[in-house]
Amino acid sequence: MRVINVKTRLRKYPILIESGITEDFVDHLKKNFSGFNKVVVITNNKVFAIHGQRLKELLDKGKLESYIVVLEDGEEFKNLESADYIYKKLIDFNIHRNDIVVAFGGGVIGDLGGFVASTFHRGVRLVQYPTTIIGQVDSSIGGKVVVNYNSIKNVIGNFYQPHMIIIDPLLITTLEEREIINGLAEIVKYGIVFDRKILKILEENVDEGNDSRLFELIKKSVFEEIIYRCCHIKSVVVEKDEFDLGYRNLLNFGHTIGHCIEKAAKLEEINHGQAVSMGMIVAIDISVELNLVKKDFKDMIIKLYRKLKLPYIIPQLNITDIIGGLKYDKKFTSTRNKFILLKGINKPVFYYNVSQDIVERCISKNMEQA
Ligand SMILES: NC(=O)c1ccc[n+]([C@@H]2O[C@H](COP(=O)([O-])OP(=O)(O)OC[C@H]3O[C@@H](n4cnc5c(N)ncnc54)[C@H](O)[C@@H]3O)[C@@H](O)[C@H]2O)c1
Repeated sequence: MRVINVKTRLRKYPILIESGITEDFVDHLKKNFSGFNKVVVITNNKVFAIHGQRLKELLDKGKLESYIVVLEDGEEFKNLESADYIYKKLIDFNIHRNDIVVAFGGGVIGDLGGFVASTFHRGVRLVQYPTTIIGQVDSSIGGKVVVNYNSIKNVIGNFYQPHMIIIDPLLITTLEEREIINGLAEIVKYGIVFDRKILKILEENVDEGNDSRLFELIKKSVFEEIIYRCCHIKSVVVEKDEFDLGYRNLLNFGHTIGHCIEKAAKLEEINHGQAVSMGMIVAIDISVELNLVKKDFKDMIIKLYRKLKLPYIIPQLNITDIIGGLKYDKKFTSTRNKFILLKGINKPVFYYNVSQDIVERCISKNMEQA
């Protein structure tokens, strides 16, 4: 088992990573927590249908008083109504601060379950138990717990570090391909910005001629190494900037334009991972335009994208709509824009006041032609 000990100001907690760790889930709860009486698992119907029964059996076998709260699947349920539903359940189950809430699902469940755990009794024990790649390499780590409100994404929330994170790479082998691609986009981001070894492992373990290559990739034991590397990076970044005051923005590479593409495409057509993939290519092109990096760097990344089925051509969208989205970027002020660009592999830089001309040119260069 690989263990990362995260040290934040709020608390210290372990990330336990091992294929098949689910079988020992109850033991890890008992080993890491004392004085708890009840465990409440928050999940959604999709994850429950695939992995819920086994988890329930394990909780029962471990003779824990446990409850499972099953929500509907989807980003649209990451809201205060779902939180309200869970609060009522926690009151019904008579949950106290010493008890444990487990968020068992992707980033949606992690954000929502974490938000509820952070507010119920002003904070109950929280175990993040992510079941998507995004969850395992990103969203479960770092304490951002949040819900959407009035169609505004991630607007009501908190910083609340979990008490433990359990990562079982076997759980992600049931993901659909689009969710694998979503996760791979974030993994490539870690590789480009922080750790080139991740790109090398990906490069060496994907067979471009094979259509089911992504399903095969995530089943390989080396994928656990990739997850570990990403978790390590995320935990170091979080330790340096727990409350997202500057340095943590590095994780935003590709997201600046990515978010705008996602918004301009009205959310359904392009998912987050696809938009971030395209956003990273635009960020690389801006870096090329500003002579920070050579063009062959982009060619190398596109080659890897092809192997990983990551999209890099932006579908035909209105450029003004895309650019218009920039004003909502959390890194920008009313007088200054801020991009994460590259001086080379693993050499990110914050760059301020990039001209709109350059941004527009780099977007249109990567857009599908009529
Ligand atoms: N808190 C953070 O730091 C942070 C970081 C990144 C993203 N997020 C949030 O995370 C969310 C996105 O997370 P996501 O990509 O995991 O989406 P998600 O939680 O919606 O999961 C994607 C889909 O995969 C399904 N699924 C989950 N586990 C599965 C499994 N093992 N097998 C088969 N299907 C499974 C889900 O039911 C869902 O349909 C967004 O709400 C985003 O805002 C938060």
